Order: sequence, then structure tokens, then C-alpha cells
Amino acid sequence: MKTPGLQWLWLFWGCSCSLGSAHSGLPRGAFPGAAAAANSNRSRHVSPERHEKGSAAFREDSDLPQFSCSTWEIKATSSRSEESLRRHIYLNSIPSSDNTSAIYGINQFSHLFPEEFKAIYLRSKSSELPLYNKEVKMPTTHVPLPVRFDWRDKHVVTKVRNQQMCGGCWAFSVVGGIESAYAIKGESLEDLSVQQVIDCSYNNFGCSGGSTVNALNWLNKTQVRLVKDSEYSFKAQTGLCHYFSGSHAGVSIKGYSSYDFSDKEDEMAKVLLAYGPLAVIVDAVSWQDYLGGIIQHHCSSGEANHAVLITGFDKTGSTPYWIVRNSWGTSWGVDGYAFVKMGANICGIADSVSAVFV
Ligand SMILES: *[C@@H]1O[C@H](CO)[C@@H](O)[C@H](O)[C@H]1NC(C)=O
Ligand SMILES: *[C@@H]1O[C@H](CO)[C@@H](O)[C@H](O)[C@H]1NC(C)=O
Ligand SMILES: *[C@@H]1O[C@H](CO)[C@@H](O)[C@H](O)[C@H]1NC(C)=O
Repeated sequence: MKTPGLQWLWLFWGCSCSLGSAHSGLPRGAFPGAAAAANSNRSRHVSPERHEKGSAAFREDSDLPQFSCSTWEIKATSSRSEESLRRHIYLNSIPSSDNTSAIYGINQFSHLFPEEFKAIYLRSKSSELPLYNKEVKMPTTHVPLPVRFDWRDKHVVTKVRNQQMCGGCWAFSVVGGIESAYAIKGESLEDLSVQQVIDCSYNNFGCSGGSTVNALNWLNKTQVRLVKDSEYSFKAQTGLCHYFSGSHAGVSIKGYSSYDFSDKEDEMAKVLLAYGPLAVIVDAVSWQDYLGGIIQHHCSSGEANHAVLITGFDKTGSTPYWIVRNSWGTSWGVDGYAFVKMGANICGIADSVSAVFV
């Protein structure tokens, strides 16, 4: 058995390795699209400050989720830049007949091994949900689906946030849905407290992970009022739940609805149209290296590990796609968003879908 101390040593060594070599070690032009994309935004994607900051957080965060480091010991002997280059070549290897395929390359997560990335950022669990059945479940309008719709165009979606080293994606997803539902109802669009959900949702694990459905269940059952983000700001670690007086202003939910929409993504789009952005769980392992384009490969259904918020869809091009807000900051993906192909349950995006009512 290795002591935890020894395992941490390996981790530090691996991290400091990546600082110098993460971008300088990568050849250019190996995969033209990605290299061009990465180079054009070089300073944004691989600024040394970002790496410095990331590794400092690595060392100091005592709330880092517990997981086995045994595979890292072996992998730390091969360089991190070689490993990420191998990943990018593989991910970019599927030829596409059109220009819509996702592009993978260097971003703020390139210095992490996939195991590390998964352990830190992919901390959402899925729930077994009943299959959606439009006759008895959530009524939707009978107007035909528009070819393109995005709640952002109605100014009812808050800005992209950054969960940092906290595995609280499930809380960002749910709170994002509540903020939008509240604004769609005609109230003001405001950042609500994600930290409150992380600290207080006792049926989840704070920054160590959780489930969107459990969070909604907790919100519905306790009728907790979410306060403004400015009153209970994000700390990137789990803290003690702070209670507010009964008269304190906040937003509680009236209910929610969670279903499995696999094979029914058009129905899912109608639900989005009728009720607002949808909190969903996806397999986001390959999202570590995502730069833009429409994700159509390299992820599976049934292996959900990350929670995000769908704000819209676009069916105008040859590849229809969902518009997905992530919580990894605006420098990730397309201004913090990803596009995921519609109609084939890509990344399991239709497996666990929640709408919230306020
Ligand atoms: C690069 O940055 C510009 C400006 O921020 C942005 O418009 C563009 O989409 C980015 N390109 C990629 C590939 O991320
Ligand atoms: C793909 O090509 C079409 C037609 O040439 C163009 O209209 C569209 O903007 C392109 N899409 C992307 C994502 O570059
Ligand atoms: C939410 O709470 C209400 C009132 O207690 C209850 O009737 C409803 O079934 C709950 N919704 C869900 C999805 O559990």
C-alpha cells in the first residue's frame, strides 16, 4: 500500500511537468483544423498564468475528491503533452463529409490526464427515470417546432459560470434552470446562489458530486428559497449550510419534471420550448479537449457523469444540434457553450432531462 503522501508527491511532480511542456511540446499542424483553432486563440487557451493558477489550486484544495492515484504513477512517467496530443489526434480522426464536426485540441484542461479530469470535473450521477410519454406527462403546445430556438435570444439565460475545482456541476445545472424559469415567468434575470445548493442539499455530496434530480427533489420538498448569488457567493468548496430567516427574499420552485427522452428528442425540444432550459446529464469525458463544432462521436449514453443546461437547439444545418451551456468558464468551448448533435442521444443527452417550474 502506498501512503497518501507518496501519491500526492506523484501528483505534484506530474503537475509541474505539464507547466513547461504543455504547449511548447506540441507540434503544430499535425491536425490542421485543431491546430489552427488552437493557435488562433493561443493566449486564451494556454496562458501560463492559467496553468500556474490551476496547479496552485490543485495543491491547496483540501476538498479535492478522494480517488485512487494508482494509475497516475504509471502514467506520470510518460509526458502529459504526449498523452494529450495522442488524445487530440484520436478525437479529430473521424472524417466528416461536412464542416460540422467537433474539433478537439489544446485548452485549459490539456495538462490533466483523463482520470484526473474525470475525478475533478465529472462528478454528477444519473438517476433512473421513467420514459417520457407525451399523453400523460408534461403538456406541450401544438405549435410546430421552429427550426432554431435559443432561450439566450430572449435574454433569460444567465452568464456562463466556472465551477473551478468543485465537482458541483449538478448544482450549476439546476440553478441555471431555475434562474431561467424565473425570468421566463417575467421576473428579473438574476444569478442565484449555487453555493447554497452545494452546501445545503443534504441528499447530495457538495463539491464531491451530486445528481440534478436529487437536488430538484430537495428543493421541491423543503421549499428552500434560493437567495441571490451576491448574498451567498461561490467558494468552490463545500461549506456549512447557511440558513436565512423565513422573511428573506428568494426563489423557491413549484415543482419539476424529470424524464428519459431517449428516442424522443423532438418531444424534448417541445418541452424546452414550453418550460425553459433543461437540466441534463451527459457523458463528458471527451469534452475535456473540446474546442468547438458539433459533438457527434466519442461519447456514450448510459455513462453519465456531468450535468449541464440545454438552452436551445438549431436544426437549420445538415446536422441539427442542441445548444448546451457548461459551467467550465467562458474560455472553454464556444464561449462556454458546446453543441451536441440532436436525434441520436449523443452523450446520453436525452437520458436524464429535467424541467423546473417556479
Ligand atoms: C477565438 O476567439 C474569438 C474571440 O474571442 C472567438 O470569436 C472565436 O470563436 C474563437 N475561436 C475558437 C476556435 O475558439
Ligand atoms: C459550414 O458550411 C456552410 C456552407 O458552406 C456555412 O454556411 C456554415 O457557416 C459552415 N459552418 C461552420 C460551423 O463553419
Ligand atoms: C413537488 O412537491 C409537490 C408538493 O409537495 C408534490 O405534489 C409533487 O409531486 C412534487 N414533485 C415531484 C416531481 O416530486
